[in-house]
Amino acid sequence: MSKKIILLGYMGSGKSIVGQKLAEKMQFPFYDLDKAIQEQEQMSISEIFSRKGAIYFRTQEARYVRDWVESNVRGVMSLGGGTPCYGSTMEYLLQQPDVITIYLSATLQTLTDRLMPQREQRPLLQNLSSEAALSDYIRKHLFERTYYYHQAHLTIATDFKNPDEIAIEIYNYLYNT
Ligand code: S3P
Repeated sequence: MSKKIILLGYMGSGKSIVGQKLAEKMQFPFYDLDKAIQEQEQMSISEIFSRKGAIYFRTQEARYVRDWVESNVRGVMSLGGGTPCYGSTMEYLLQQPDVITIYLSATLQTLTDRLMPQREQRPLLQNLSSEAALSDYIRKHLFERTYYYHQAHLTIATDFKNPDEIAIEIYNYLYNT
């Protein structure tokens, strides 16, 4: 059984809530990367983007994940949506023998519906004024990012499933393989 379980996927795919549920079931500590960076920087993600810039944020997330992977802890970590797509992070994670990566996939429609009411809190989505603009943005973004997401050890389709069901599905995979 791997010591570190890493959940990845687009914004709104449920990484944080599923990660919490899975960690509870496994009796592992849970780490939320966005939260950890906000605590470290004493700023919200939006503030980090606007005050320090996207490159700074990407560097911090890549560094934080590596530090965690190399630390001697077990746990479940939820990445940010972009984390595996920058700085060779996905390649790095796949080389670690005690890491299992899990992609939570969701359709364009599901992601659009979930993210529409949350645009203000999300720095990359703040300027998208209509549902059509949001959907177009996600479509293009997913096209670029699924190349990385699909390299995960396991992909779970999350549409029409609740977080408990998804956590159980992952748990069964982990303990039956
Ligand atoms: C981002 C996703 C966010 C956060 C930041 C950038 C992205 O995390 O890291 O706003 O590039 O997709 P969540 O996927 O946890 O919302």
